[in-house]
Amino acid sequence: MRARFYFSFLFAVMVCVALSIPVLGDEGNNSCLECHDSVQASIARTPHTFANHVSCEACHGPGNAHAKDPSANNIRSFKNSSAKEIVATCTKCHSDKHPLLSSHLSNGQACLECHSLGHSPVFTDNGKRPERRLLKNISAKLCTRCHAGEKAKMNRPYHHPSDPFGNVCLSCHNPHKTKIELRQNKVDKKCSTCHPETGGPFMYVHLGTQNRGCSECHDPHGSTNPNLLNRNTTRFLCLSCHSDTPDFHNLADPKFRQCTSCHSAIHGSNTSAVFLE
Ligand code: HEC
Ligand code: HEC
Ligand code: HEC
Ligand code: HEC
Ligand code: HEC
Ligand code: HEC
Ligand code: HEC
Ligand code: HEC
Ligand code: HEC
Ligand code: HEC
Repeated sequence: MRARFYFSFLFAVMVCVALSIPVLGDEGNNSCLECHDSVQASIARTPHTFANHVSCEACHGPGNAHAKDPSANNIRSFKNSSAKEIVATCTKCHSDKHPLLSSHLSNGQACLECHSLGHSPVFTDNGKRPERRLLKNISAKLCTRCHAGEKAKMNRPYHHPSDPFGNVCLSCHNPHKTKIELRQNKVDKKCSTCHPETGGPFMYVHLGTQNRGCSECHDPHGSTNPNLLNRNTTRFLCLSCHSDTPDFHNLADPKFRQCTSCHSAIHGSNTSAVFLE
């Protein structure tokens, strides 16, 4: 009986501790809002609210000194924060966004390159609402700002259509997990979610993920060739790897030039080792 009481007391203490660590910083939140009342309405449109146990100090750091003697110099405003500091602040709670998983975070492109927390003057002064997922921009412009090469390819005649969110890049990339996803099997799996007929599993696989997978023959970002092919005709694509086709393949005969008219199961087959069907 006594042990049970003891344990439930301990449990209650643990719950309080768990809930209060983020809630109560040195200054709590009320004192911040006494002076920064404009922040209240805009931050309420984001998930970083007191209701979610997120305090101002969880991000801005201890605010005692600042509350006593307010100055821009004694509070973390993120204006001059290093990428490392930003990542450390955010991953306290978002621990699944690990720097080592992403070329972005490990190359100094921290969270605030893509996200804005929705209560800076842009939002407090004119009532602007944050975009989905607190993104600075929901379209592909978010990404092409830095990735000019992919942007140029996306402007080629053949390219992928936008996804329902308006950022085509996100169909294939998770910016928090670029390193994992560029491992070929992950990328190919992603392709196959939308193109299941190409992904197998096949009894006879043409090019498995031991190579560059789909990218061996396609440029996923865009191409001047139909089917996003890397070469301007199918024949040249095939011959770039198969210089020695069987003798009866008389390439002077137009019949043999359209390789996929016979090798139509080009991605793989369960019946033909030479991908005829
Ligand atoms: C007594 C009033 C007061 C309190 C309490 C207060 N602030 Fe401030 N805060 C100010 C003033 C005034 C400024 C503007 C300072 C300046 O521009 O030189 C400011 C500036 C800021 C800035 C922006 C700095 C910049 O670069 O423009 C942030 C961020 C901030 N406060 C966060 C907080 C947080 C978080 C708390 C609670 C821990 C808090 N403040 C509590 C008065 C206060
Ligand atoms: C989840 C992290 C987080 C929380 C919680 C948070 N802030 Fe911020 N705050 C930021 C970031 C990051 C910025 C810089 C602008 C941006 O990228 O959105 C910012 C900007 C500000 C600014 C504007 C500074 C400027 O640029 O002039 C003020 C003022 C401010 N916060 C006050 C508060 C107050 C008050 C609270 C609590 C009610 C709070 N913040 C809670 C992360 C946070
Ligand atoms: C004290 C904990 C805490 C800190 C620190 C924190 N967050 Fe959050 N964040 C949350 C919670 C809680 C949610 C809402 C629940 C969820 O989606 O996980 C959230 C949600 C989000 C979302 C999703 C928004 C949406 O619409 O779904 C983004 C983006 C985000 N945070 C970015 C940041 C960034 C950037 C920082 C650093 C400046 C940061 N967070 C710091 C607790 C935190
Ligand atoms: C290169 C741009 C980029 C960077 C850098 C970035 N994010 Fe994101 N983040 C996104 C995009 C885009 C989404 C929306 C993904 C979706 O909904 O498909 C997102 C979604 C989120 C979400 C909500 C969905 C989820 O995955 O839980 C959270 C939380 C989040 N980001 C936190 C962070 C934190 C914390 C950092 C820094 C450690 C960070 N992000 C760095 C682009 C970025
Ligand atoms: C602030 C600039 C910036 C923004 C915005 C940005 N990136 Fe990046 N991205 C980089 C840098 C820097 C690297 C690492 C160096 C490189 O490979 O170019 C990188 C790497 C990558 C890589 C991996 C390349 C590799 O070989 O490891 C992918 C994939 C990627 N970004 C996709 C995206 C997507 C998708 C978005 C939009 C959600 C985005 N990026 C937004 C700067 C940015
Ligand atoms: C149809 C899927 C798909 C889409 C859409 C897509 N990518 Fe990629 N991306 C890939 C694949 C697959 C690779 C790996 C390429 C390889 O193996 O050569 C890649 C590689 C990259 C790289 C690394 C490039 C390098 O040379 O190492 C960056 C950066 C990148 N993508 C950015 C973007 C951006 C920005 C967008 C949106 C404008 C985007 N991607 C849209 C599939 C896609
Ligand atoms: C989010 C779903 C999605 C993902 C993921 C995806 N695609 Fe696509 N893909 C499409 C759509 C939709 C089309 C346009 C189909 C059309 O126009 O009929 C398309 C078109 C194509 C085409 C051109 C077909 C034609 O008719 O010209 C090729 C090749 C292709 N995708 C390859 C890939 C590769 C390779 C990947 C992975 C790197 C990939 N796709 C990932 C949805 C996707
Ligand atoms: C060995 C080269 C090669 C590889 C590897 C390859 N493809 Fe293809 N793919 C082709 C060729 C060639 C065509 C055009 C077929 C034709 O001429 O009808 C094509 C056509 C397509 C098409 C459009 C026509 C259709 O069948 O719907 C899609 C989508 C596609 N490929 C997706 C993929 C995906 C996803 C992968 C990776 C899982 C992949 N491809 C790997 C050569 C390849
Ligand atoms: C990036 C290089 C590459 C490209 C491009 C390519 N293949 Fe292949 N192909 C291979 C490899 C590697 C094998 C497996 C060879 C082996 O196992 O000896 C193969 C196997 C085959 C086979 C099965 C017979 C054999 O030699 O094992 C046929 C048929 C074939 N390819 C036809 C084509 C056709 C048609 C195209 C053009 C649409 C094409 N390939 C494009 C690399 C390629
Ligand atoms: C008219 C139909 C036809 C066309 C067009 C055709 N092939 Fe074939 N190909 C075949 C047949 C049938 C076989 C199987 C021969 C066998 O089983 O011995 C074959 C076999 C192959 C093989 C496998 C050889 C081996 O070692 O087993 C390769 C590689 C190949 N073709 C490449 C190509 C390329 C590259 C093209 C386009 C330039 C092409 N084929 C066009 C009918 C065709």
